Amino acid sequence: MTGKKANGSCNVAKNTSNDSDNENRNVYYAMEKPTYAYDDIKAIADYLMERTPVRPKIGIICGSGLNSLADSITNTQSFDYENIPNFPVSTVEGHVGRMIFGYLENMPVMAMQGRFHYYEGYPLAKCSMPVRVMKLMGVQYLMATNAAGGLNPKYKVGDIMIMRDHINMMGFAGNSPLQGPNDPRFGPRFPPMTNAYNAHLISVAHKMAKEMGISHEVHEGVYTCLGGPNYETVAELKMLRILGVDAVGMSTVHEVITARHCDMTVFAFSLITNIGALEYDSSEDEANHEEVVMVGKSRQSICGQLMCRVIKEIAKECQTK
Ligand code: HPA
Repeated sequence: MTGKKANGSCNVAKNTSNDSDNENRNVYYAMEKPTYAYDDIKAIADYLMERTPVRPKIGIICGSGLNSLADSITNTQSFDYENIPNFPVSTVEGHVGRMIFGYLENMPVMAMQGRFHYYEGYPLAKCSMPVRVMKLMGVQYLMATNAAGGLNPKYKVGDIMIMRDHINMMGFAGNSPLQGPNDPRFGPRFPPMTNAYNAHLISVAHKMAKEMGISHEVHEGVYTCLGGPNYETVAELKMLRILGVDAVGMSTVHEVITARHCDMTVFAFSLITNIGALEYDSSEDEANHEEVVMVGKSRQSICGQLMCRVIKEIAKECQTK
């Protein structure tokens, strides 16, 4: 791997045409087949470690509209994705693309402002590749957030759903970030997922929500990720509800699978940005991206506070270990 400007691909034929003014360039690269081998990911981790003194213990992924989660990070150093060699770039409106290093509650952290989605054309392994970069930089905890449509009738727009579990719908269709040869330096061929979401951190989050006086708007539930980018039909949402899904989105599951594969401790929550219509004549507005981003922005402070408090507890526990 070379240390030159990112093109989002590894071990693939490079695009040789002079297309710097081609607006679809990012999309073109997104569609390339990736083969992020261990050494490719190590090279990205080494590139970052050579440029930041921070040795992160916690990796954060900010969901749509929730980028200000990273605002509380101090002594920051940030890297635009496009300047990290062989890193993909975010192609979604409203999603910046930046990796931030610094300290939160005295814990060394790295935070992704902007993640990669399957609907952008990236294969799942490429979407979740940054989680492996985190691992090789020393991250032990993955803290992820996302925007999601609520299906549980108790949920309201603006509520938070702590992820207790997920249903990997894309996995049912034979698509997994762990597909292909397994590298045991990351983890085992057949990793278990029964305890994907750390029960202790879930209870810490409930305690923190209580202290913040927001328990009435914080739930615990099951998330599913669909490929998108279209939102769901009424029949699809009804089916997901019957299957036990409380909230639906287009991210996180493959990141969590990748993190658990390499033995990270995972905590994640969804911000309910809209309510899924379970009837054709539902009074709910049709889902739309602008609303998702707007609700995210209006609730990012509360989401940030909850995340910071959970991290503070992790920091305390790390000190006493
Ligand atoms: N469906 C899928 N993804 C989403 C939704 C939704 O309703 N809201 C935010 N992300």
